[in-house]
Amino acid sequence: METTVTLAFLGTGSMNGAILQGIVRDGTVAGAVRATTRTEATAAALAGGIVQARSVESDPQANRWAVTGADVVVLGVKPAGITDLLADIRDALSPTTLIISVAAGVTLDTMQSVVTNPVIRAMPNTPALVGLGVTGLAAGAGVSAADTAIARRVFETVGWVLELPESQIDALSTISGSGPAYVFHAIEQWTVAAQNMGFARDDARNLVERTFIGASALLAESDAEPAELRRRVTSPKGTTERAIAVLDQAQLDEVFTAAARAALARAAEIAAENSAR
Ligand SMILES: NC(=O)c1ccc[n+]([C@@H]2O[C@H](COP(=O)([O-])OP(=O)(O)OC[C@H]3O[C@@H](n4cnc5c(N)ncnc54)[C@H](OP(=O)(O)O)[C@@H]3O)[C@@H](O)[C@H]2O)c1
Repeated sequence: METTVTLAFLGTGSMNGAILQGIVRDGTVAGAVRATTRTEATAAALAGGIVQARSVESDPQANRWAVTGADVVVLGVKPAGITDLLADIRDALSPTTLIISVAAGVTLDTMQSVVTNPVIRAMPNTPALVGLGVTGLAAGAGVSAADTAIARRVFETVGWVLELPESQIDALSTISGSGPAYVFHAIEQWTVAAQNMGFARDDARNLVERTFIGASALLAESDAEPAELRRRVTSPKGTTERAIAVLDQAQLDEVFTAAARAALARAAEIAAENSAR
């Protein structure tokens, strides 16, 4: 698709800032970008090239300025601020402007109770900061195929995108949203194991972290599935085979499923807490 759009990022911190950088790096999705933050210092740091930025500290109308004439508005403030922000910008929006929210736990219904615009919920993860994110996109009722296509282009500037119904977005969050924490947790545990094998902490960290990064890069470059790549380092009757047998005894598939279910149960609790407010 050749068309370029005018994008507004409202609340341009860690997550929206990563997407903004992806858009600027890509150079083909947006012809112009307006970004807002709360404080002037963070806004000033964003401005340059196709990006204009204002803070609500210097201009209380900054968010309304940013959405005026925008084709797509990406909301990146904390979840508790989403409905107030939508109420603030509501009458500055064109009726066809696509709204995308990256806020965790704020439902399409909640947003559609404030605005009638097409709305998409996005759930990116932190590797978006290095362009290797995974984002789930759930579209509301009034979203056209063209809207979904533009949302996909926005998030593909920072990684891979999966479209899914909103009913699955919490499940996606238990895998890819929380997933970076699971990987860091595994790295922490293997670093302890390396120290238990006699390595000093710095050496242990290098051995483990570089092995995770290297194996991930090998997987990314290869057409083979992880099981096949694992077999290639697991000679029959060899040392790796013994280690894998111990890991298999721990029934990690069941442990991981239980962990994902615990995260899903917590998402339901948080939703209930928020709707009871
Ligand atoms: N981080 C993640 O892993 C992740 C993953 C998925 C989804 N999310 C979602 O992303 C959203 C933001 O999280 P984050 O980690 O990026 O937080 P963050 O770094 O604190 O970013 C929040 C941004 O909102 C700005 N802001 C606050 N009030 C504003 C207002 N009234 N108008 C305009 N801008 C305002 C802040 O400006 P100042 O910096 O000047 O205060 C900051 O730029 C959350 O809803 C979260 O659920 C985050």
